[in-house]
Amino acid sequence: MTDMSQAHKVKIIYFSGTGSTALAAEEFERELISRKVPVVISEIRAGNFPSINDEGLLILLFPVHAFNAPEIVYEWIESITVRNPLSTAVISVSAGGNRKPNMACRLSSIKRLEKKNCRVFYEEMLVMPSNWVKKTPEGLAIRLLEILPLKVKDIVDEMLSEKKHRTKPPQFDRILSRIGELEKKGAKRFGKKILVSDNCNGCGWCEKNCPANNISITDGRPAFNGTCLLCLKCFYGCPNKALEPGKFKFFIIKDGYDLKALKGRMKGVKPEPVEELAKGYLWRGVRNYLLEGNKGKY
Ligand SMILES: Cc1cc2nc3c(=O)[nH]c(=O)nc-3n(C[C@H](O)[C@H](O)[C@H](O)COP(=O)(O)O)c2cc1C
Repeated sequence: MTDMSQAHKVKIIYFSGTGSTALAAEEFERELISRKVPVVISEIRAGNFPSINDEGLLILLFPVHAFNAPEIVYEWIESITVRNPLSTAVISVSAGGNRKPNMACRLSSIKRLEKKNCRVFYEEMLVMPSNWVKKTPEGLAIRLLEILPLKVKDIVDEMLSEKKHRTKPPQFDRILSRIGELEKKGAKRFGKKILVSDNCNGCGWCEKNCPANNISITDGRPAFNGTCLLCLKCFYGCPNKALEPGKFKFFIIKDGYDLKALKGRMKGVKPEPVEELAKGYLWRGVRNYLLEGNKGKY
């Protein structure tokens, strides 16, 4: 087994659409730095694939998209060359948590990593507020942000002590995750049909910030290239709120998705009991995530 002691570098590689996975990746970085473990952190973006060597530990993080990783994560894995077995941890970041049909969301990336000589010994799910379809109620979203550093601390403890943590997803989730791969084709089509309103002043924010290189400003207006990853960053981030899906409008949360603003509202909020905040079937995975192992720990 690779020595993961101080002398070895940890490389954190992540893809993030609307910032939740970036926040989680930065939390890993902070935790490792606090333990004096050398760490480098890099983002996967179209046209900018971070390289890795085969020393130390690789931590790969991605948001769950349709019970899978976004396509750019597979493309990045395809791009790497690893000569000697590399200790690897895979962390998925979802809105729904460890529940059906999310449980096989890391399977495909892990298989691809293993083909590339990455020895995946650890996998885990983090939960962050939802950026699509259904907004996570604010109190619950704040709870998720509060618990993130504690979850990351526990994961880092386990990873650095080389604890093996692999899961066996149920057949149902495996099937749905395969079906979910269809989202990748749909994303490209979705991204071609984005509507631009008169609010657009051609500022170029979307072009600069799209992690998929799907947007280029042509004659002062955004044009779409068919490489969309459905990350939704452009809709929520556009400073003029000038973009709207041409199809599947229900993907977008009406109030928007702004993690920074949410963090700003965290102070002074009296935490309500998780059982109250996360009632019902929909939030079961989030409820379990917040309560699991919680013998006064979190
Ligand atoms: C197209 C799309 C598909 C998603 N699919 C799932 C899913 O299958 N399961 C889930 O729990 N969350 C799903 N989510 C929610 C995200 O995984 C979650 O909000 C994540 O924290 C977003 O990370 P990011 O801000 O780094 O992009 C989806 C989000 C998008 C945009």
